[in-house]
Amino acid sequence: MAPHDAVLGWDENTTAEAYAAFTRDYPMYSATSRDLAHRAQITDSNLVVDLCGGAGATAEAILTLAPAQARVISLDNAAAMQRVGRRMLPDPRLTWVTAPAEDLTTHVPTGSVDAVVCNSAIWKTDVPTVFAAVHRVLRPGGRFVFNIGGGFAGIRHADENTIRTGLSLNHLIQQIAARDHGYTPPPATDAPPKLPLSTVAGELAAAGMTVLDTEITAQHSTVAEKKAWLSIPVFARPDGDFTHEQRMAILEKAYALTAPDAPTVTSWLVVVAQRPEEAQ
Ligand SMILES: C[S@@+](CC[C@H](N)C(=O)[O-])C[C@H]1O[C@@H](n2cnc3c(N)ncnc32)[C@H](O)[C@@H]1O
Repeated sequence: MAPHDAVLGWDENTTAEAYAAFTRDYPMYSATSRDLAHRAQITDSNLVVDLCGGAGATAEAILTLAPAQARVISLDNAAAMQRVGRRMLPDPRLTWVTAPAEDLTTHVPTGSVDAVVCNSAIWKTDVPTVFAAVHRVLRPGGRFVFNIGGGFAGIRHADENTIRTGLSLNHLIQQIAARDHGYTPPPATDAPPKLPLSTVAGELAAAGMTVLDTEITAQHSTVAEKKAWLSIPVFARPDGDFTHEQRMAILEKAYALTAPDAPTVTSWLVVVAQRPEEAQ
């Protein structure tokens, strides 16, 4: 089954506007973007690619760290996300390319890029194809930095176990949908995670890249932020045959049962890879 936030849905104005508003109002995507841009070591760069750049939260972080003359290409296959991005981030150093990540080499010259940064998206792509394309566009020594959501990587930061997070909104949404709409949650499976580190490392090696560093990071937030995130149409729950209005009504009922300031923890697996320097 396609993941809940699969590509379908990103190219919709409602999602693009709601997503961009969320990135303005809450730190999740700007904070993870800043972290990845920092790890990409771009302070001397000429050209950086923001892969699956959406509405530009990651491009903004890259532009802040890169030198004044550097150029940034933000590539994403959802035109709606980029329309919002162009409006919010009208920076002449930034070029928007509407294309699948898998077609990166069609749009970016071989060996021309100092770093590729991909925030909160790599598991949605055809990973072996994208890694091979990233290797081709990077200069020798260039960095490829990305993160994988904890559920997709099969990891949890220790804080997820130690911080008392209260009732989970997702859990309450399922309970209310079952009570009010006869919803049946999908059966719990013990399917393996989609993109564990062992797979990532193998695919990076197959593409000719080396892993420089990996880290499990935790993002601390609140139930209020989680509610705002679950209001973005592409992320709204439960799955199945509900209208967005029905999902939002269920979300309101679930949220009313929580403490808005209760802490939440989101885990990420961060990977820093490199196209090796050429042998002398
Ligand atoms: C969660 S958003 C992240 C956007 C941005 N990096 C940020 O941090 O705000 C995921 C983005 O990945 C894009 N995406 C998913 N699969 C893609 C693919 N195969 N090629 C290009 N873009 C893709 C979606 O269109 C969406 O804009």
